[in-house]
Amino acid sequence: MEMIQLNNGVQMPQLGFGVFQVTDEAQCRACVLEALKTGYRLIDTAACYGNERAVGAAMRESGIAREEIFVSSKVWIQDAGYEATLRSFEKTLENLQTEYLDLYLIHMPYGDYHGSWRAMEELLREGKIRAIGVCNFLPDRLADLILSHEIVPAVNQMECHPFCQQKELRAFQERYGIKMMAWAPFAEGREGIFVNPVLAEIGGYFGKTPAQVILRCCASAG
Ligand SMILES: NC(=O)c1ccc[n+]([C@@H]2O[C@H](COP(=O)([O-])OP(=O)(O)OC[C@H]3O[C@@H](n4cnc5c(N)ncnc54)[C@H](OP(=O)(O)O)[C@@H]3O)[C@@H](O)[C@H]2O)c1
Repeated sequence: MEMIQLNNGVQMPQLGFGVFQVTDEAQCRACVLEALKTGYRLIDTAACYGNERAVGAAMRESGIAREEIFVSSKVWIQDAGYEATLRSFEKTLENLQTEYLDLYLIHMPYGDYHGSWRAMEELLREGKIRAIGVCNFLPDRLADLILSHEIVPAVNQMECHPFCQQKELRAFQERYGIKMMAWAPFAEGREGIFVNPVLAEIGGYFGKTPAQVILRCCASAG
């Protein structure tokens, strides 16, 4: 698995397996286990997905050493703020049955996300999280966060795919070494993305499918 280096030196797998909307516990456990067997080493969950316990169970069942798996989770908007984020984080660790998180993200830029960030900076310094970041932050919100705190987010997880390339946001992020972590890299299967003629033509030159072309473009966009 190719890795990318985050702005604090942490290595993150370039390709991840997300479990948004996989709410059935047995199904989530089975598909995460299958993903790990296939070779995925980044699993992306969130408190609001309701499946952290299943992800943790699959990680243990896989028999793969904890330090070989990169797991990310997110604090939801109801838990914005310093105290609530600390509580939510403890719950996340308990659900995942792990001592630390590789990446912890603010899920949405709503409510007291400054309080959340202070809590996350503290958890990072205590070694309970290896990297911290945000999701769905546009440049103005990112600037607000960067100007108000010491630690610059390592990633911004944002909708990013061929129909929504986030050029302005990526240019802004590059100035601060913030990596784009694409959500919905396949545009959630919309607009015929898997039979898109441009992607199919590019893939034709290299013997790749449109999905493989998208992932390669995501990887080079960083
Ligand atoms: N931070 C956030 O706010 C946020 C928001 C949304 C998502 N996310 C994260 O990003 C992850 C991925 O996003 P997503 O699941 O919404 O969107 P996605 O990965 O763009 O799309 C998933 C859809 O694409 C289809 N698909 C995938 N590979 C395919 C292939 N090779 N051929 C045909 N169809 C294919 C899947 O079909 P099947 O169902 O048939 O497999 C599924 O319907 C989530 O699981 C979550 O971890 C984060």
